[in-house]
Amino acid sequence: MEIESYEKSGKIVSKVRDDASKLIKDGLAIIDLVEFVESEIIKAGAGIAFPCNVSVNEITAHYTSPLNDENIISGGDLVKLDLGAEIDGYIGDSAVTIISEGDSDLNDDEIAKNENLIEASDLALETAISTIKEGMEIGHIGCEVEKVITELGFVPIRNLSGHSLQQWNLHSGLSIPSVASNDSIKLKEGDVLAIEPFVTDGDGYVDDANSTNIFKFEKIRPFRQTYTKKVLNNIKTNYPHLPFSSRWLTKEFSPNRLNNTLRELSQSMAIYPYHALIEKTGARVAQKEHTIIVEKEGCQITTK
Ligand code: CO
Repeated sequence: MEIESYEKSGKIVSKVRDDASKLIKDGLAIIDLVEFVESEIIKAGAGIAFPCNVSVNEITAHYTSPLNDENIISGGDLVKLDLGAEIDGYIGDSAVTIISEGDSDLNDDEIAKNENLIEASDLALETAISTIKEGMEIGHIGCEVEKVITELGFVPIRNLSGHSLQQWNLHSGLSIPSVASNDSIKLKEGDVLAIEPFVTDGDGYVDDANSTNIFKFEKIRPFRQTYTKKVLNNIKTNYPHLPFSSRWLTKEFSPNRLNNTLRELSQSMAIYPYHALIEKTGARVAQKEHTIIVEKEGCQITTK
């Protein structure tokens, strides 16, 4: 049943999230964290809803390791861990921000700011969740979230939003911004939403960063080269609905040629490339996310 599958995937996400959070410390390779999360989701009997995102400091979202990623987490880093699991296509999506343990060269102000950013993202998510119920206007949720973040002296990321979920669909139409808007769409009982306020002390906008390691299948397009066709068919067979990482494809295709092919597929819109996102001014960002199901008088958090 639909709700049971959401509950099941939510429970798996929350357990893996909490276990993975404990590993975050100075010297940990990002790829080890990413692979731990992805393998634990599989071991728990779910599918991976999207490549595990580990976005550090000013990197805000959509970073996953490429093959042979050499990036290492340092002490004092603000690490956003965003993961998703699916049961029969019903997705749990949750994120948490952790301050990496270990020595750092941050001063006292910067250490305090890390903690305050995390607290603000916690409160922003709590606020959003406490306003959600059937009939609530989407614009009002953003208004309340923005108010809380601003009162704490921070800024919400304006060009990132929460999103509705449906079976096999990670972004199924509704956007839930963290700022006030005139959006008068009302939530309905049974709507499933991933709510994810991002908080910073920078400008509050993200830009594309260089790295692109997450993609989504769009449509079959004609290609002359057999290799290109082969890669696209593999993608269509294995990841027809949900995002995938280039890392996953390197089990079957050699990495050198693959990167060019993924670029070619992106340019012809056979696949969609998700760039890593970076805060415009290079300021640090914290994020917290839960998946919820809208109810008549409130909501059920599946990823608690
Ligand atoms: Co997420």
